[in-house]
Amino acid sequence: MRLKNKSALITGGTSGIGLATARLFIAEGARVAVTGRDESAFERVKAELGENALVLKGDVRSLKDMRAIAAELKEQFGGLDIVFANAGWAFPSAVNDINEDLYSEIMDINVKGVVFTLQAVLPDLREGASVILNTSFVAQTGQHGISLTAAAKAAVRSLARSWSYEFLDRKIRFNAIAPGAINTPLISKWGMSDEWVRDRKAEFAEAIPVGHMGKPEDIAYAALYLASDESTYVVGTELVVDGGASQL
Ligand SMILES: NC(=O)c1ccc[n+]([C@@H]2O[C@H](COP(=O)([O-])OP(=O)(O)OC[C@H]3O[C@@H](n4cnc5c(N)ncnc54)[C@H](OP(=O)(O)O)[C@@H]3O)[C@@H](O)[C@H]2O)c1
Repeated sequence: MRLKNKSALITGGTSGIGLATARLFIAEGARVAVTGRDESAFERVKAELGENALVLKGDVRSLKDMRAIAAELKEQFGGLDIVFANAGWAFPSAVNDINEDLYSEIMDINVKGVVFTLQAVLPDLREGASVILNTSFVAQTGQHGISLTAAAKAAVRSLARSWSYEFLDRKIRFNAIAPGAINTPLISKWGMSDEWVRDRKAEFAEAIPVGHMGKPEDIAYAALYLASDESTYVVGTELVVDGGASQL
């Protein structure tokens, strides 16, 4: 029970990495609120996570939504010990294919979303709280065709450093996790055929030194470490969990 009596918010906790992390945090004794936009998933997620979970609707790009979520959490939990700013979006695009809509979508979900999530919950973070930002292995190295997503995630990585300084006096720790290619529903949301998705996943797996994509639980365990009191001396860092993809 590494998170006994702790309260956590996980944005984008209705799918993939966020959902796996919610399951693990609850198993380790935490009360967890997860958020998402698509309400059609909420009943299934509630049933899966059980009575120690809240499932709340909100778009991380909306300060109004995030303030409403923060108000609900204040009422339900009293304060927060852990925030996993996990909601995010990735889409491959060569530089010539970037248009205004794609630019806004990638930058706003990944960067604005993290800024407003933090701003909304800031008054309710308890002393000693741990805030974990979800970045990506794509920002670790130069890669073809994913520059906008990589730039957005590099901005998020920078926020973990700056905010670590800004909140030293409140003993709030900020760290990032950079997942590698993780087998979640994300890629299936790109609007391509099942066959295309299967082929891309096979290509990803082949390019990863350990020979396979990661599981959402691989990231959940890293988040558990950063959320727990075992990591109180870890501040402003980025933990890369990518099967060696960006490091070997
Ligand atoms: N999977 C990978 O290979 C990989 C690699 C590196 C980094 N990451 C990062 O890991 C994080 C989670 O990704 P995942 O793979 O678990 O994706 P996923 O399965 O698609 O889950 C994404 C979650 O974020 C929520 N979300 C998306 N946009 C949102 C918004 N504007 N406001 C609120 N919630 C929003 C989704 O719910 P709704 O759609 O209902 O809003 C869902 O709960 C992302 O930040 C992603 O960039 C993933």
